[in-house]
Amino acid sequence: METPFTFGKIATKSNFADREEETARLVINFSSMINTILISPRRWGKSSLVNKAALTASKKDSKLRFVFIDLYNVRSEEEFYILLAKHILLASSSRMEELIDKAGKFMGKLIPKLSFSTEPNSDFNISFDWESVKKDPDDILNLPENLAKEKNIKFVICIDEFQNISSFGDTMVIQKKLRSNWQKHQNTTYCLYGSKRHMLIDVFTSVSMPFYKFGDIIFLQKIEKKALQKFIIKRFNDTGKTIDKTSAGNVVDKAECHPYYVQQLAQLVWLRTADVCNTNIVEEAHQGLIMQLDFLFQANTDNLSNTQVNFLKALLEGVEQLSSKETLRNYRLGTSANVQRIKTSLENKDILDLYGNRISFIDPMYKYWLKTVYFRIK
Ligand SMILES: Nc1ncnc2c1ncn2[C@@H]1O[C@H](COP(=O)(O)OP(=O)(O)OP(=O)(O)O)[C@@H](O)[C@H]1O
Ligand SMILES: [Mg+2]
Repeated sequence: METPFTFGKIATKSNFADREEETARLVINFSSMINTILISPRRWGKSSLVNKAALTASKKDSKLRFVFIDLYNVRSEEEFYILLAKHILLASSSRMEELIDKAGKFMGKLIPKLSFSTEPNSDFNISFDWESVKKDPDDILNLPENLAKEKNIKFVICIDEFQNISSFGDTMVIQKKLRSNWQKHQNTTYCLYGSKRHMLIDVFTSVSMPFYKFGDIIFLQKIEKKALQKFIIKRFNDTGKTIDKTSAGNVVDKAECHPYYVQQLAQLVWLRTADVCNTNIVEEAHQGLIMQLDFLFQANTDNLSNTQVNFLKALLEGVEQLSSKETLRNYRLGTSANVQRIKTSLENKDILDLYGNRISFIDPMYKYWLKTVYFRIK
């Protein structure tokens, strides 16, 4: 039997909870050609939200064509342009002859070479004369706009892990090139998203950066408790099982409204429930999940320095003055400048989320594990 919860994959249809306001905002942006920048820590639901909004917007406006690109393991400008050109061509037509024709028509100067495999339903590879692209990539950057005008369609280019653009050599030059072309587009919109908050904030909100004021910046939040509770109850009912509001609330609380963990824990609870769930089952499922993650968490913790571990301990013991002399001494944190470095490196490791003055753990299960299993804090 199929289980009613999903995690590690994009949440769709009945697996997608709430996010009504955010979906509506994205749909409006897509159809009115407003660029969007979407930022949240990992696994809070960016990809699922963009996917949902894209489907909704496509239903409303048949002229929209979505292009999805993930920069997760893209490390160079060249790879980026190839990916961009390939996916834009793919989204514009399913006919190979047309793809070849358009590649020649709009990017001819760059000598594009397309190669197709003979496998049915497979896509194609594209390469360029890199020296020409390096000098002037404008034809690739303007490809969607040119295609959109010719075919009377509109493109929405969705680029995940956009912060990776900062790791390309000469990133400022590249960003300037992208911005100066993209801002002229009338029939192409960009939805740029990622999880490295401080890097994205730097790219999009620093006055000195090319992408300053590029579009509507959305800091995606977790999903509200009430909506998640309702979601869990409904998914149990859909499969002939029941869970009361309190137990569903416990699941959400233990996962601290983290969308991925809510689904994972709810799944474990559902599997343990024959007909009717109770709070004991939630407790057992939670312990089971922590045990399941123990090895991973131990390995992650082994990779931290002593001062980083000590800092996490201070946080979990509820210390508020993290840079005070007393805290520096009690937890052996070195100097207060060191504390700043520890915070930044824990943020870079996706362990902490720094938001204004607030510091929180990104992973609620890791937080629980550290507190109860590792430090044994009562
Ligand atoms: N709207 C939602 N309703 C229910 N569950 C959701 C929702 N959005 C996300 N999730 C849960 O969170 C998980 C992660 O979602 P998603 O992959 O969309 O997040 P992400 O922010 O893109 O993550 P990453 O940073 O790893 O790319 C999903 O597999 C699903 O379990
Ligand atoms: Mg994602």
